[in-house]
Amino acid sequence: MVSYKELGLVNTREIFAKAIKGGYAIPAFNFNNMEQMQAIIQACVECSSPVILQVSSGARKYANQTLLRYMAQGAVEYAKELGKNIPIVLHLDHGNSFELCKSCIDMGFSSVMIDGSSLPYEENVALTKQVVDYAHQFDVTVEGELGVLAGVEDEVVAEHSNYTDPKDVIDFVSKTGVDSLAISIGTSHGAYKFRPEQCTRNAEGILVPPELRFDILAEIETKLPGFPIVLHGSSSVPQEYVKIINTHGGALKEAVGIPEEQLRQAAKSAVCKINIDSDGRLAMTAAIRTVFAEQPAEFDPRKYLGPARDELKKLYKHKCEEVLGSAGKA
Ligand code: G3H
Ligand code: 13P
Ligand code: ZN
Repeated sequence: MVSYKELGLVNTREIFAKAIKGGYAIPAFNFNNMEQMQAIIQACVECSSPVILQVSSGARKYANQTLLRYMAQGAVEYAKELGKNIPIVLHLDHGNSFELCKSCIDMGFSSVMIDGSSLPYEENVALTKQVVDYAHQFDVTVEGELGVLAGVEDEVVAEHSNYTDPKDVIDFVSKTGVDSLAISIGTSHGAYKFRPEQCTRNAEGILVPPELRFDILAEIETKLPGFPIVLHGSSSVPQEYVKIINTHGGALKEAVGIPEEQLRQAAKSAVCKINIDSDGRLAMTAAIRTVFAEQPAEFDPRKYLGPARDELKKLYKHKCEEVLGSAGKA
């Protein structure tokens, strides 16, 4: 049993309280490898932002959970070496069982998500409460979820969103004791959030997705004043990356993500954690495809993973500075 406190990590309680008060959101970036981790820490140190490092079940399978945990421990030291002791949370993304959450807590995670959103309501309540009761003994914070996002959520694929019903939120939060709540208001996972048939086109022919359900968010905030709300599936699918990928041999379908102005608007509310993974995948892929296309004789992984890391860092800084408003808040 290792406490996250010994590793220099923090839980989400204080950073969320500050974010709600200050009208910004903390970035939650997924990582699976060293380059992503380096880019996250370099970006957040440079712009002085608190950060949540997220590990999904897929990441655990890909990279091994022990290695990822030691990388997060290394990230704390790396940030100090770069000159800034920023608050760093190590968070389990979309935990799907008590055992998985417990295992992460026992090995030094400071925060876990228990995602019972696809279960019947009462089962979601019971499972979430079980995780909270365990986690709180060690001052580990817990994120629950109500409502289902469309898209791919680890191995679970949902065709359509099932928006969070505001009438459930008080009951869910009081019965479970969760520290934050992920809600469904129109975001979705992956790079194909809004396909052309789900959008309108503006005068320039640019796809315009349906607006997020800010009315549902407002109702939830009224019911749970000052309670931390989380948005998953918040990538914006930058069209410049899609274009670079497709002009260098890629085959991404036409789709758009969540407009950054809407994320900025959400960050000013009780939304204090915004999850971004797909945009990072697009940034890395665009950079790697460019090197492969322009320098086909190159075969040193550092020569394409290095530029991918630089592009990622640029993206993360942009998110903190221009979208979430977390820059300068560490
Ligand atoms: O919510 C899903 C995250 O983007 C993680 O994706 O399960 O492919 O690692 P993954
Ligand atoms: P995106 O697929 O929109 O990046 O969402 C990531 C996420 O919600 C991770 O939990
Ligand atoms: Zn998610």
